[in-house]
Amino acid sequence: MSPLLRVESLGKSYGARLGCAEVSFDLWPGEVLGIVGESGSGKSTLLGCLAGHLAADSGRILYRGRDTRAMSEPERRMLARTEWAFVHQNPRDGLRMGVSAGGNVGERLMAVGARNYGQIRAAATDWLGRVEIAATRIDDRPRQFSGGMQQRLQIARNLVTGPRLVFMDEPTGGLDVSVQARLLDLLRGLVRDMGLSVVIVTHDLAVARLLADRLMVMKDGHVIEQGLTDQVLDDPQAAYTQLLVSSVLQV
Ligand SMILES: Nc1ncnc2c1ncn2[C@@H]1O[C@H](COP(=O)(O)OP(=O)(O)OP(=O)(O)O)[C@@H](O)[C@H]1O
Ligand SMILES: [Mg+2]
Repeated sequence: MSPLLRVESLGKSYGARLGCAEVSFDLWPGEVLGIVGESGSGKSTLLGCLAGHLAADSGRILYRGRDTRAMSEPERRMLARTEWAFVHQNPRDGLRMGVSAGGNVGERLMAVGARNYGQIRAAATDWLGRVEIAATRIDDRPRQFSGGMQQRLQIARNLVTGPRLVFMDEPTGGLDVSVQARLLDLLRGLVRDMGLSVVIVTHDLAVARLLADRLMVMKDGHVIEQGLTDQVLDDPQAAYTQLLVSSVLQV
């Protein structure tokens, strides 16, 4: 078996300001990698580079052995459409607010070639059910939904095409605690059932504990510790990770 994603010495700056530097890791098929660290540590920069939303300055990103930084733009767009998914923290960034719930899900199927209206609507209905949105809401617009429902809809929209690799940036951020718990449960089930490989950014160690197999801790753009989630959280090696873990009551 070879890694799904291999990242070598990835770096990205914004002018004189460091985004991330010397980031290296492997992501294996079916694995969930959590990226944790304080605000400004470079988590979103790294995720953006991996997903191709941001142009890295240096290093290599090998997806199934192919360097995505060396791919043409159309090639990378095709990959993003067919094999990858990105779940944003803010559902507004990942949904089309003027399009119905069913349309939000269905148009992703059309983007990968589906044409039969009845089948698309049936698949959309099925996916709304999987994210616990009643079929009766299929023609409603996202703005008629609660924040938690919008986030579930964004997940349905992004997973309906059956991606292999999913990037998530704080998918439960900005939600009430009880809503977060339900969303986490749902995500956990989908990751397991679909066998997804995931890179998830979170500053919430409880989210990391629940979802991630392995953790990478970032500080000032650098990876300062990585390992199995339980190992990192129960026996942190770096002083910064110890501080991070001890600053939360219970994880
Ligand atoms: N568009 C940008 N222009 C200039 N600097 C940026 C830009 N985006 C991020 N940065 C800087 O890069 C560094 C890393 O930011 P990044 O957003 O990746 O951190 P983060 O870990 O995702 O933080 P947060 O937890 O707040 O989302 C920070 O110093 C930030 O100020
Ligand atoms: Mg961020």
